Amino acid sequence: MEFDVFTLLPEVFSPYLESSILQRARQRGLLQVRVHNIRDWATDKHRTTDDIPYGGGGGMVMKPEPVFAAVEAVLGRERNVPLVLLTPQGRLFTQRVAFEYARLPRLALLCGRYEGVDERIRQYLVDDELSIGDYVLTGGELPALIVIDAITRLIPGVLGDPDGALDDSHASGLLEYPHYTRPPEFRGWRVPEVLLSGHHAEIARWRREQSLRRTLERRPDLLAQAVLSETDRKLLEKIQKEKENPSHEI
Ligand code: ADE
Repeated sequence: MEFDVFTLLPEVFSPYLESSILQRARQRGLLQVRVHNIRDWATDKHRTTDDIPYGGGGGMVMKPEPVFAAVEAVLGRERNVPLVLLTPQGRLFTQRVAFEYARLPRLALLCGRYEGVDERIRQYLVDDELSIGDYVLTGGELPALIVIDAITRLIPGVLGDPDGALDDSHASGLLEYPHYTRPPEFRGWRVPEVLLSGHHAEIARWRREQSLRRTLERRPDLLAQAVLSETDRKLLEKIQKEKENPSHEI
């Protein structure tokens, strides 16, 4: 997968892209990230990329000319690569959106800075707008790295375990079950017996129940969208009953 990132802070990307899984993905040719400095397309002597807002008010606004010039120089005017603006006003970036974009061969990301971008960039240049959550950061650079990270780990071959991304929290619409590794007992806290049993069907059942339990406790909103079997629904009812009636726990 190829990413083109348009930013005023190109230097913040390499430390993360040169670490761990993303670095390995790049070395193996599964990921390519080109970071473009929007300032390189500013034409005045001070290489200005922002200006005061029309109508007054505080803050600075990203000017349209260098952004249009950068995107058109790199991707062409008749571009077939979607350009996504990172902004707190975008639609929420979820695992579902990550799967959507992971199908594409190439994606371009535009990092907003200052108070915002000139509205004509949104209207006439950008194809989609994504927010990583309901809070405001100083710019779209961290969100762009988050989007790259979440999409990259879905590319076949990037994770060591080919099914690794399928079990993830959110991949199936549920939160993931708890994980344990050695030792079997640490400071008197034991790993659940079932995980040491080697009984794969029971382990799978235990994990599914834990997943449902966690989702019900922490993110009940996710259950409405999750794909649930009849067994799942019965388990959920049992967990609900336990919660309502803790003294009668089974
Ligand atoms: N830029 C600033 N805050 C942001 C957010 N929450 N998501 C995406 N881009 C942003």
